[in-house]
Formats: sequence, structure tokens, C-alpha cells
Amino acid sequence: MDIKSASFVVSNSEVEKCPKSNLPEYAFIGRSNVGKSSLINMLTNRKSLAKTSGRPGKTQLINHFLINNNWHLVDLPGYGYARVSKSSKKTFQKFITQYFSKRLQLVCAFVLVDIRHTPQTIDLEFMQWLGENGIPFCIIFTKADKLKPMAIERHVEDYKNIMLETWEEMPEYFITSSSKSIGKDNLLNYIDYLNNN
Ligand code: GTP
Ligand code: MG
Repeated sequence: MDIKSASFVVSNSEVEKCPKSNLPEYAFIGRSNVGKSSLINMLTNRKSLAKTSGRPGKTQLINHFLINNNWHLVDLPGYGYARVSKSSKKTFQKFITQYFSKRLQLVCAFVLVDIRHTPQTIDLEFMQWLGENGIPFCIIFTKADKLKPMAIERHVEDYKNIMLETWEEMPEYFITSSSKSIGKDNLLNYIDYLNNN
């Protein structure tokens, strides 16, 4: 799929205020700093459509982007950022869980994980929650430019083994790098496939 147009629609912290349209929607979620906003820019060929930062906690709201006038990409705040106060963590958890439970247009949640790290409890628990709530999800490994091919293979294998302790099969997954534009076609073709099925 080619991205012919990509534009920012709206940011907000309430799922009720998200766009009313029934266009299919895909959300990027994962730990702070994992590369959600960067991946949106990579996929859309835009340098700063979604705001990125080296400091975790950059994205604070639900951000909708309209792609090719027929589907939405959603950039979400990261979870697991230790320097956020307990009360703002709770507020955040609430609006994220509301987003995922109420947004019926959501076709698939893409859970981003940094390929360099061993599987993290917070990500595994989040995927567990998605599964329990019947929300389809895929895994996106990010920052693949930081590892050599052999190490990528080993880390993915380790991830699969952990997932298979809980899940019957490994969810669909993608290996990406926003800085090297790795994985772009695979991911866009997958979204295209979901849009048409
Ligand atoms: P929050 O909005 O804070 O939750 O973060 P985020 O997940 O949106 O991450 P963001 O895209 O802002 O990227 C965080 C940092 O990681 C930035 O310094 C990016 O330049 C860097 N980064 C993102 N993707 C890649 C990648 O594929 N490779 C490398 N090497 N760095 C990346
Ligand atoms: Mg972000």
C-alpha cells in the first residue's frame, strides 16, 4: 500500500471525543520511548507528523491521523514511565483502557517492544489484558538497527518462547527500524490486508 496522504486530525484524552467516523483504526501502544511516534512518521514518510523525543513521556494524548482518507492511525502515550506520579499513572491507565474497550473501530492494536530488551512483564501483562478483552493485537519489534541480524533472530526466538508459555501461538509480528526504514512495506501491506478483509 502507498501512503498518498496523511494528516493530523485531533488530540484528546477522552475516548468520547475521538473522531466519530467508522473508519478502520490501528493503534500504536507500548512503553514510553519504544518508538511509537517515530514509527508513525516512518510509515507515513513524514519527519514530524507525530511528535517524537529522546525523553520518555512525549506523547500524552490520544492522537488521530487520517491516512489515504480511509483509515486512522492512532498514536498513544507510552506506559511504564517510572517518573510519572502515581495519580497521573492511574488517570493514564483509565483513559487507555477506555480507549481500547470503547473504540469499536479499532481493527488491531500494535504493541511495540524494543528488540534489544528481554520480554518485559509490563508488555506481557498488557497483551494478556488485550487478549482477555478480545482485542486483536500484533507485536512490532522496534529499533532493529541497534542489533546485528543474528541477535535479532535470537531475541525474537526468546520472545516467541515466552509468548508460547501463555498463548497457543505467537501473534503476528513485525521487525522494524524507523531510522533505517525497515519493515515498512510488510506493515503497510498487513494493514492493507486487514482493511480489505
Ligand atoms: P513516548 O511518546 O514518550 O511514549 O515515546 P514513543 O514511543 O513515541 O517514542 P519516540 O518515537 O518519541 O522515540 C523515542 C526515541 O527513540 C527517540 O529518541 C527516537 O529517535 C528513538 N527511536 C525511535 N525509533 C527508533 C529506531 O527505529 N531506531 C533508533 N535507533 N532509534 C529510534
Ligand atoms: Mg510518542
